[in-house]
Amino acid sequence: MKKIAMLFIISLLAILVAACSGGDKDTTTEASKDKPIIIKFSHVTSIDSVKGKAAEQFKKLVEEKTDGKATVEIYPSSQLYGDADELDALVSGNVHMIAPSVTKMVKLDPRWQYVDMPFLFADRDHAHKFFQSDLAKSLLNSEILGNNDIMGLEFWENGFKHFTNNKQPLQKPEDFKGIKFRAQAGKVLESQFNALGAGSATISFGETYAALQQGTVDGQENTFNNIDTQKYQEVQKYMTLSEHGRLDYGVFVNKPFWDKMPEDIRKQVEEALRESTELEWQLAFDENAASLENIKNSGKVEVLELTDAERDAFSAAFESVYEEFGETITPELLDGIRDLK
Ligand code: LMR
Repeated sequence: MKKIAMLFIISLLAILVAACSGGDKDTTTEASKDKPIIIKFSHVTSIDSVKGKAAEQFKKLVEEKTDGKATVEIYPSSQLYGDADELDALVSGNVHMIAPSVTKMVKLDPRWQYVDMPFLFADRDHAHKFFQSDLAKSLLNSEILGNNDIMGLEFWENGFKHFTNNKQPLQKPEDFKGIKFRAQAGKVLESQFNALGAGSATISFGETYAALQQGTVDGQENTFNNIDTQKYQEVQKYMTLSEHGRLDYGVFVNKPFWDKMPEDIRKQVEEALRESTELEWQLAFDENAASLENIKNSGKVEVLELTDAERDAFSAAFESVYEEFGETITPELLDGIRDLK
């Protein structure tokens, strides 16, 4: 009898606990000036980078628009999470917002490597058209992200990537033979370097400067602003203005956290993000231009331009990347992007 009574009490307690935690799912987070909602935003670049400055701008706008009922805690420079774990931290809700270079989303969906397909984007305007397209929205709101409790809200820009290295001037595909490059993530970048006879290693952003300095790799590819704000010019001798691929960001949030925000606050935060995105695009343009000047003025890097014929030679060398990955990235996405030109 005692045993039955005990079992009954335990079951009752279990039901109560389940009911409480289940109910929690539907509750809305309380927000007031004294106890604001804190949006934890983790990223890997420095505070003076395009992304770092845009994150600060976003924080300011959130605080203004919500009248202090929401704020953003920014964790820059991989200080909380780096490339290896920031996506997992978002999925588990340990951070609420990240803005990774989209290729790093390859962990969940290989189509994000569209950004690495060589010479896919003709110019900046083409990238902007894509950011605003239905195709881009379908990536941000894909089922696979939803199944992982995350959702993409906006595209932030950085810009075109350029090759740097400390071995020799890189003017044509053959010059890459035997040189080892740092890559951000994924098989497409590996294939891109293979197509040039070069080697590559995936190294997190936070460890790249040391890898270049210590000779773990000889070179890397990045935007002017990332090169400059990471001071790669101190450890690289040559930079080829190749514009062979892009580096752009997706702004992703943890969906349960987002859904729990009171609706009026969420709308204000989304408005802040929309406005920050416009500012971010301009910032990307201005900061990359200033960074190119900084790199040139450092006097440490020889800057090499490519003729049209040299670009064509790279384009031909990269055809194998399209053969290898066209199906994975999907013809729908690749043709759709080309059609936006
Ligand atoms: C890189 O790893 O080179 C970039 O993705 C870093 C960044 O976030 O811009």
